[in-house]
Amino acid sequence: MSGREDRDAFILRRLAESMGEVVSGEELAALLGISRVALKKRVDRMVERGIPIEAVERKGYRLLEIPDTPLEEVVLSLLDTEVVGSRFIFYPVVDSTNRVARELAREGCPEGTVVVADKQTAGRGRLGRRWFSPEGRNLYFSVVLRPRISPTYLYHATMLAAVSVCEALRNRGIDALIKWPNDVYVRGRKICGVLNEAELSGSRAEFVVLGVGVNVNIESGEFPPDVRDIATSLFEETGERHKRSELLAEILSSMDRWYKKLRRGDVWELFSFWRRNNYLIGRRIEVDGRLKGDAVGITPLGELIVRVEDGSITTVAAGDIKLLEKT
Ligand code: BTN
Repeated sequence: MSGREDRDAFILRRLAESMGEVVSGEELAALLGISRVALKKRVDRMVERGIPIEAVERKGYRLLEIPDTPLEEVVLSLLDTEVVGSRFIFYPVVDSTNRVARELAREGCPEGTVVVADKQTAGRGRLGRRWFSPEGRNLYFSVVLRPRISPTYLYHATMLAAVSVCEALRNRGIDALIKWPNDVYVRGRKICGVLNEAELSGSRAEFVVLGVGVNVNIESGEFPPDVRDIATSLFEETGERHKRSELLAEILSSMDRWYKKLRRGDVWELFSFWRRNNYLIGRRIEVDGRLKGDAVGITPLGELIVRVEDGSITTVAAGDIKLLEKT
């Protein structure tokens, strides 16, 4: 335990283990090696930040529920990871978490640094588009990784984002599928978009920023008109509100597990998950409004394999994919 968040996360973790019940202040202070006055100050600050902890006079503290907002101490109290979440920064408002994460990465932040925002004023999407990022509804976060791989294999690192979100949603019973290169779809609608940005130095990837936007509690009528018919959210799919803090912890835990496999050079399972939960394979597609054919798989480098209409096979390294009706 070192920083403020770590200590606060420890308090929250302990309170969450006995959710709704009073945990002795004396015991908590002793576990942390701080005075009861110092403990009270920490708890008061968390209450000010919107975490519903109740003080019970002369007894201790009780956590009433896990807050929805993905505050650092809340998410850290739910995490048990080795790399992802090594540092965690929450912003109530920021222009773009990818912009901040890239800057931190250039300044040498540790790998596994996570930047999260409650709202983005200039959320960035792929191909220069904007990402709709209203306050308090969805998840917007970026993770800095420093994989020791050649830029040729960068897709292995970037596919972690969609795979982790897909896994976390499937664990909640949502039929999520990965749409190459990095989107997550449910019932033909986009629920998550990923913007990966890498910086290379010679033959090595210096760092990669995985930028993830998940539509969580937003209702269909709140989407801008141009995406209303093609986007969905966890709320729309399940009819229930989902706690963003818990969902984020699940996604980051999944990412941590997959990243550790990747670092060992074990990508077989990653590709196998990707193939099993794929939205495009077997479908007729159009790439960038020109190439038409059937998506048949991905290469070990992450390119999409397409059987073109004349029967030839080609690979696509990047592009915008539209689904076509089977003829
Ligand atoms: C897409 O176009 O599908 C990608 C959208 C990626 C959005 C996320 S939200 C968090 C991170 N910060 C950004 O500015 N963009 C990504």
